[in-house]
Amino acid sequence: MTIAPEHRQLLTVHTHARGKRSPVTCRLKCNDACLHPAPNESANEYFKDVVGAVLSRRAMLGTLAVAAGAVVIGAQGATAPSAAAAPLAEGRFPGHGHGHGKGLAFGAIDPQPVDVDALVVPEGYTWDPIIRWGDPILPGGRTFDPDNQSPEQQAKQFGYNCDYLDILPIRPGAPSRGTRGLLVSNLEYTNAEIMFPPTEKYWDIAPDGSRTKNAYTRAIERAAHGMAVVEVRRRAAGTPWDHQRLSPYNRRIHLGTEFVLDGPAAGSDLLKTAADPTGRRVLGTMNNCAGGTTPWGTVLSGEENFNGYFVAAGANPTADARYGLGSSTSYGWEQDEPRFAQSEGYENESHRFGWVVEVDPYDPESTPVKHTAMGRFKHEGANVTLSRAGHAVAYMGDDQAFDYVYKFVSKDRVAKGDSRWARAHNKTLLSEGDLFVARFTGDSPAAQIDGSGALPADGAFDGTGEWIPLVKGGRSRVPGMSVEEVLVWTRLAADKVGATKMDRPEDVEISPVTGRIYVACTNNSGRTPGNATEGATEANPRTHKVVGGATTNGNRDGHVVEIVPVGDQTSTRFTWNLLLVAGDPTVEGTYFAGYPRDRVSPISCPDNLAFDAEGNLWISTDGAPSSSAIARCDGLFKVPVAGRERGHVQQFLSVPAGAETCGPLVDSRDGMVYVNVQHPGEDGTYDAPDSFFPDYVAPGVRPEAGDFRGPRPTVVQVYRPRR
Ligand code: FEO
Ligand code: CA
Ligand code: CA
Repeated sequence: MTIAPEHRQLLTVHTHARGKRSPVTCRLKCNDACLHPAPNESANEYFKDVVGAVLSRRAMLGTLAVAAGAVVIGAQGATAPSAAAAPLAEGRFPGHGHGHGKGLAFGAIDPQPVDVDALVVPEGYTWDPIIRWGDPILPGGRTFDPDNQSPEQQAKQFGYNCDYLDILPIRPGAPSRGTRGLLVSNLEYTNAEIMFPPTEKYWDIAPDGSRTKNAYTRAIERAAHGMAVVEVRRRAAGTPWDHQRLSPYNRRIHLGTEFVLDGPAAGSDLLKTAADPTGRRVLGTMNNCAGGTTPWGTVLSGEENFNGYFVAAGANPTADARYGLGSSTSYGWEQDEPRFAQSEGYENESHRFGWVVEVDPYDPESTPVKHTAMGRFKHEGANVTLSRAGHAVAYMGDDQAFDYVYKFVSKDRVAKGDSRWARAHNKTLLSEGDLFVARFTGDSPAAQIDGSGALPADGAFDGTGEWIPLVKGGRSRVPGMSVEEVLVWTRLAADKVGATKMDRPEDVEISPVTGRIYVACTNNSGRTPGNATEGATEANPRTHKVVGGATTNGNRDGHVVEIVPVGDQTSTRFTWNLLLVAGDPTVEGTYFAGYPRDRVSPISCPDNLAFDAEGNLWISTDGAPSSSAIARCDGLFKVPVAGRERGHVQQFLSVPAGAETCGPLVDSRDGMVYVNVQHPGEDGTYDAPDSFFPDYVAPGVRPEAGDFRGPRPTVVQVYRPRR
C-alpha cells in the first residue's frame, strides 16, 4: 500500500461551492441544494424558536495506528509514502489526549491537510480494503476492467459511493460475527467524470470536445446505484475480513430490482403509474445514504436525494418545490425511461422514492420493502430501538437545511427470538404505526442566542421538546391532509404542525447504554444573521463565525443534539441539549460538552453516527475540507458522552483527498473499525485523478488485474496487525 517515490500528481485547484463541499458533490449528490432557496418556506411558530434496550446491532461491533499507504499529494507535486500522520503547519490545532475513555485506546491523529491522499490511522494500526467499487460479487461477474465497463457487469459488481455499512453475523441472532459475516452497504450515487474513460464508448463527444454521457453510460450508472450484500470471512475474530466473490448470500440491489410498497399509502392513487396501476410495486431504490440495522436483523436504508433524478411533473408545484424537483436533472436519465421524465402516465413516479427501505440480507430471494408508514422525505437513514413494551421506535433525519427530525413508533410489538415466525412478524413492524416530528424549545431568552455560538447565561444550549403527531392511531393529525397525503408529502405535513427547522439533520442514533438519542446536524450555510427563513435558535444557535477577524456567515461546522426521552422511547416529551457545537476549537463559538477546548480534535460537519459497546459515540464527517469549515480532510472521531471524558473529541482516522467518511462501524470488543470511504478524488477526472486511493497504482506501472489507477469508493477495515 505504498507508492513509488517518482510518482507525481498535481492536484486540481478545488473550488468550493457554497456550503460545505465540492461543487461536484453538490451537483451529483444534492442537486445543488445550497444554491437553491431553502425549500422550507413555511412560517411555523418555532420561526421565533419559541424562545428560543435491545441493542442496535451496530453497537455490538467494537481500534488504533499506523498510516498505511499514506500518500501525500501536494501542490508542489511531492509524494511521500509515510508511516505517520502528516503534521500540521505550526501546530495550529491544539494537542489532544492519548487513549482516554473506555473502549478502544488510541492516540488521536493530527487532522490532515486537504491534499493528503491517504487514509491515516493511529499509530499501531493498519488498514486495508474489504471491497471496492467494481469488485465482482455475483456469478458471471468479471474482474473489474475500468476500460471495459458495462451495465451487465456493473450489476454483478460492487457499486459506487458506498455509504451505510454494517457487518451482520452469518445467522440471525448469532452473538457475534465470528469468522463469517454479511456485509451490507448502501451505494448512494455516481460520479461519471471519474468513473468512465473519456471515449466514445461512454460519451457523446461534440466537435468542441465537450462530452455528454451516452445512454450506455447512464445504464451503467443505474446499475451502480443501490445496495449490496456480500459474505465476508476471516481466520478469527479480530482479524481482517475478505469478501467472498461467490456466495449464495451475495446480492446487488439497483434501479432494476423490484420492491414492494407497504403501509397506509401503498395502493394510493398518489403512487400509481402506467407501469404499476396497483401503486404497490416499484422498480429500484436510489440515493441510499445512511441506514440502520434493526434488532431483528434486517437493514434499513434511507432514500435521500432522489429529487435530483426526476423532472418535476408540474401537477403539484408546491410539493415539487418543497421536495426540490426541477425542470431538468444532471443525471439525464429522463432520456432513457419515461418514469424519470414523469411524462404522461408517470406523474407519480417520484412519489415512489424518498422512503425508508428494508432489506433482509439473510434471504437473497426476498423482495425488499419501502415503508410508507415512515413518511417520505430526503431520508438520511433510520435507526431502530425498542420501547420497554417492545414497540419498534425509529428515529430519522431529513437531510436538508431547515428540515426536520422524525420518529416512528410501531403499532405492534417485537416478537422475541430469531425463529422463522418471529422474523416474519418483526419484518411487518415498520408497516403500521405512529409518525411524529420534533419540536425543540429553548429555555434561554432569545436575546441570549446571538448567533455567535456563545453560551447563554444558563451555560447550555438546551431545553424541552415534544414529538408532534402527524399520523396517530391510523388517523391523520394534520388538518386538511389525509393519511396518504401526510405520508407522501410528509414535509408539507410537518410544516403545518410547527416542527423545528434544523441545520440539516443527518444520522440520528440511539445510545445502546443510555437510550439517549443523538442527532448530527451537519451544517447550514443558509442560517445567517437576519435570514428570512430563520436566524439563530437555541437548538441551532450559530449564524456566523469569526476566524482571524473575518466573519463567515452560516453554521459552517454543524452540531450534535442530545435528546433525553422523558420516560420511555414512546414518550412524546423530551429534554435536549447540544453535546457539541463543532468546529476548530481555537475559534470562539465552539463547544465540546464543557471539555477543555485545548484538548480536543477539531471536528466539522458531523454526518454519520455510531456507538461502540462501551457507549462512546463515533462521528464521521462530511464537509470538513471546505475552506469555510476547518479545511482539513474528513475523518472519524470518538467522543465519550458520559463521565469525565464527556465531550473529549479524539480523531481516529482521516480519509483521502476529496472523500467523506461514511458508515462507521466500531467493534471495540473485536478491535476493529470499519468505514466506507465515499467519493475519494471527486473533483478529478478519469485521465487526471485527484486521488489514487485505495490501489495507489504508480505511474508507469501496469495495474494488477482488478486494480485501478484512480479513486475507488471502498469499504475499509482498520485494525491492529497481529504479530
Ligand atoms: Fe447522503 Fe445526508 O448524506
Ligand atoms: Ca439554555
Ligand atoms: Ca450522509
